[in-house]
Amino acid sequence: MKSFDIYKYKVVEKINILSIEEREKILEKAGYNLFNISSKNVTIDLLTDSGTNAISDLQLSMMMLFDESYAGSSSFERFLESAQNFCNKKYIIPVHQGRAAEKIIADIFCKEGNYVLSNTHFDTGFAIYRYKGAIPINIPTPEIDDDSFCFKGNIDLSRLEYLLTNECNRISHVVMTITNNALGGQPVDIENLKQAYLLVKRYDKPFIIDGCRIAENAMLYKKAKNVNLNIREIIHSYTSYCDIFYMSTKKDGIAHMGGFLATDEEKWVSKIRQLAIIFEGFPSYGGLSGKDMEIIARGLNEVLSEDYLNDRINQVSFLGSLLHKEGIPVIKPFGGHAIFVDAQKFIEHITPDDLVGQSLVVELYRLGGIRAVEVGNLMYGKDAIKNLVRLAIPRRVYTYSHLEYVCEIFKEIKNNKKNLTGFEVVSSDPLVPHFTAVLRPKKVGG
Ligand SMILES: Cc1ncc(COP(=O)(O)O)c(C=O)c1O
Repeated sequence: MKSFDIYKYKVVEKINILSIEEREKILEKAGYNLFNISSKNVTIDLLTDSGTNAISDLQLSMMMLFDESYAGSSSFERFLESAQNFCNKKYIIPVHQGRAAEKIIADIFCKEGNYVLSNTHFDTGFAIYRYKGAIPINIPTPEIDDDSFCFKGNIDLSRLEYLLTNECNRISHVVMTITNNALGGQPVDIENLKQAYLLVKRYDKPFIIDGCRIAENAMLYKKAKNVNLNIREIIHSYTSYCDIFYMSTKKDGIAHMGGFLATDEEKWVSKIRQLAIIFEGFPSYGGLSGKDMEIIARGLNEVLSEDYLNDRINQVSFLGSLLHKEGIPVIKPFGGHAIFVDAQKFIEHITPDDLVGQSLVVELYRLGGIRAVEVGNLMYGKDAIKNLVRLAIPRRVYTYSHLEYVCEIFKEIKNNKKNLTGFEVVSSDPLVPHFTAVLRPKKVGG
């Protein structure tokens, strides 16, 4: 059964539905940047799946066991055991969220002018490496335009080998983002990961996994390959091919905050730990409260349930299929956490330079109060590979009828899309332009 909601309500929040005129005023005031809009003025919030999860009754009850001791808290002990079981690594160092882990990695490995290679960096890592004076380089698999290929999250092994051979001294480390958020939430194949890892080890470079959606990746892998392993076993096969694993637990930790770094190697743990103490807090809390650690400890178990993961993946593909049936160009096959609309293909008369993705993001809000995010020229500037709009589905928050509503709004946009105009940036902070940009609509013919 595809469209059956496997959760029932215990607590509810009323959704505000404003008029188009009210939303037009809000957009103008927000500089056409959806990050500047209050959530109470949003009808369906698909801005991110990060930290927006609904917690379960069991997570809430575990939270009540919180122990806020500075050192050696029992909440940390439960967190530690759960994180170790999740990723099968011995040392676990908590951090307040994923980007804190990225900052620690960058501080340990990067020098000015270094290349950091990845299947695709996500925006925070990308910005942090640039801030350090390093050069993040994306080398996604050449199959990224092949809709029949299940593992579009893969890294391009021949480019990886080429860069390792020719630029070895400049490369600091390699990061595999699992799933590949920026290019469609697409899974990475274990075979590709293994080949990449072995290649990188031949050149003696650190190999790191950003695994904030690794459980979704494991489920997509299981479905594609029909393997007879449980999700935990699949995750462990993935994490066996890395020196350091890190994740933001705001995603597959089904939590609101948090993250951790994990490794089996003592040589890395002491480097990580000392930076974590300086920037995050003592290693038994790392910027997290005992309550956060309890929610994560339980979330890292709940995420392994195949009922949960099937529901998650079904919701994503339900929305993707509805949009596809209406002729909206979406990235296929559907990934694990979001549907990515190819804005450039959908709205052909607006160019990437005129921020075609942002134009669609603004229209989704204006017409339907839907908040989404541009993943294209506004987010990545000249490094953008495609101009997409990401509809990220928060975990366990929305029902199938909410997703049908999203499709209805897309249908209306499709019928009037020729009236849409491009956007230009009035001001922005250079490292994180999409979070901070103030924009204005481009004048027609201007
Ligand atoms: C792949 C990936 N890595 C890292 C991060 C950063 O995590 P956080 O938002 O917890 O700092 C994100 C956030 O969306 C992400 O999607």
